[in-house]
Amino acid sequence: MSSLYAQINGLTIAYSDRGTGLPLVFLHAFPLNRTMWAQQAEALSARFRIITIDLRGHGESDAPLWHYTLDQSADDVRALLNHLGIRQALFVGLSMGGYILFAFYRKYAVRVKGMILADTRAQADTEEGRGGRFQMAQTAYTKGPSAIADIMIPKLLSPATIQTRPEIVQKVRSMIEGNQISGIAGDLMAMAERPDSVPLLPQISCPTQIIVGELDQATPPSDANLMAEKIPGARLAIIPGAAHLSNLEQPEAFNQIVAAFASELCK
Ligand code: MLT
Repeated sequence: MSSLYAQINGLTIAYSDRGTGLPLVFLHAFPLNRTMWAQQAEALSARFRIITIDLRGHGESDAPLWHYTLDQSADDVRALLNHLGIRQALFVGLSMGGYILFAFYRKYAVRVKGMILADTRAQADTEEGRGGRFQMAQTAYTKGPSAIADIMIPKLLSPATIQTRPEIVQKVRSMIEGNQISGIAGDLMAMAERPDSVPLLPQISCPTQIIVGELDQATPPSDANLMAEKIPGARLAIIPGAAHLSNLEQPEAFNQIVAAFASELCK
């Protein structure tokens, strides 16, 4: 993916922009970067304009040594759309990318032509979850990103992927190890304080597709069902043989769902 850069809200934000047609904006998971969407960009850019962003704190974008919120990440996305002259797009947010999509929709619903919420949840963190974020930030600080990779990989990928697909494991590990500690800690703080988006769900009025890996333990199918029940008209697709990173573990199935949904939005 060739890299482009924009100066946004005091930071350098890296992104890729490939293809023409309906813009599809992809928001990645924690603690990864925009290269997790490589197979989506490859397959879908023949029909759509694919924009992938390194969210603040990740990949080639700046990682601020300062507290930030997911609302600020949403503001970065809006500023990038403005920079590119894009008024409306279809957004695809996976996990933390989905949390940012909720923040974006709360502030800028008019920019959202449709949403794909993948392997994510609407609920805020529990008290225990927030404690876990604090512990993980301390681990990042004392032991570095490779310790975060050790913790996260079993949460992100299925046991079968970990045992039999070393190339995927290595790709995820190198994305995590490429992060700066301030980005990992900044995200953990931002996710810990995100609001509950369950009350937002009945107010979502754009076409919405929900995707979840059947083996996802981080944001299980029960979380996807809750979103599907409460968002008017939302559809739900469950991908067999995938855990949390369903786009990496089962890219063909994931791409097919995205392409079908995006094609309908173009009609
Ligand atoms: C992610 O994949 O973005 C994270 O698992 C989200 C989270 O920790 O809540």
